[in-house]
Amino acid sequence: ASDDHVEYNWYKGMRLASHLVPEDMDDIQDFVVRDDDVFIITYPKSGTAWLQRIVSLLHFGGDVSKTDQKEQDELVPYFEQKCGDSATFRKLPEAPSPRLLKSHLNFCHAPVQLTQGKGKVIYVARNPKDVAVSYYHFHFMVTTLKNPTSWEQFVQDFVNGDLSRGAWHDHVLEWWQHKDNPNVLFLRYEDLQKDTRKEVEKVAEFLGWSVTPEVIDTVVEHSKFKKMATNPTTNKVDGKEVKGGIFDSSKGTFFRKGVVGDWKSHFSDEQSQWFDAFYKEKLGPTGLQFDFEG
Ligand code: PPS
Repeated sequence: ASDDHVEYNWYKGMRLASHLVPEDMDDIQDFVVRDDDVFIITYPKSGTAWLQRIVSLLHFGGDVSKTDQKEQDELVPYFEQKCGDSATFRKLPEAPSPRLLKSHLNFCHAPVQLTQGKGKVIYVARNPKDVAVSYYHFHFMVTTLKNPTSWEQFVQDFVNGDLSRGAWHDHVLEWWQHKDNPNVLFLRYEDLQKDTRKEVEKVAEFLGWSVTPEVIDTVVEHSKFKKMATNPTTNKVDGKEVKGGIFDSSKGTFFRKGVVGDWKSHFSDEQSQWFDAFYKEKLGPTGLQFDFEG
């Protein structure tokens, strides 16, 4: 394959794309958290960009002329990603409050102060079948991830946790275990789809940011999939030639479908059955459930 040169890093037994550096992961544990920090945390492909938009809009009281002065990834930067000579988090001590951040860290790799209750975490989980499909397509367009050899192999790797960020179930279940921590809000992508307004209200209340119903209306409107896909500040990838970054927009679409249930166009009946059985065993005892139908 043409991407044989793609190398992964390893951190405590977990595969990581090469834009994530093991030494950074060590130092993250000691990161000094502020009370008003907001971390949006997910396993990849679970609604990160959507929450980045919702939180940015809430922060600016729904004023799109303010949010759209900067790219979304500048307003809500990627905490642990190596960016130029050093990772984003190393530059954060100089950043003004409130620091709005996105991250894909496992609970056990997150800043210790965050796991002990300082700052705030909005965790978003999405059903594993749609995550697998979304992540599969994403692997073709990200230059630091290996192209999957086949969908069948990819599903195996997903279940085995043999991908950047490890196993979906480890990630989601670790955070689920801490969902009642006062500084954690646990959301599901499918609930956001079903009743965006209700979930946006939950986010505003959790952050303690008072907003009017009109502001909520604007946030819901401007965080819609189509709005985000066509807004150059929220979609800097699709249809553009992105040079020097980690995306190759000729190989895929970031704003791909944005629906619940696209797994049906990828999983065979047999795959679907063993996948369901595997996750039933993992999730069953925990009480965490997902809507797979949309
Ligand atoms: S990443 O790369 O991990 O940060 O990706 P992430 O943003 O977590 O997930 C990308 C998927 O979320 C979909 N998406 C949305 N769905 C609904 N509404 C909105 N506004 C929205 N924005 C992004 C995006 O299309 C990816 O899912 P798939 O299934 O691939 O379409």
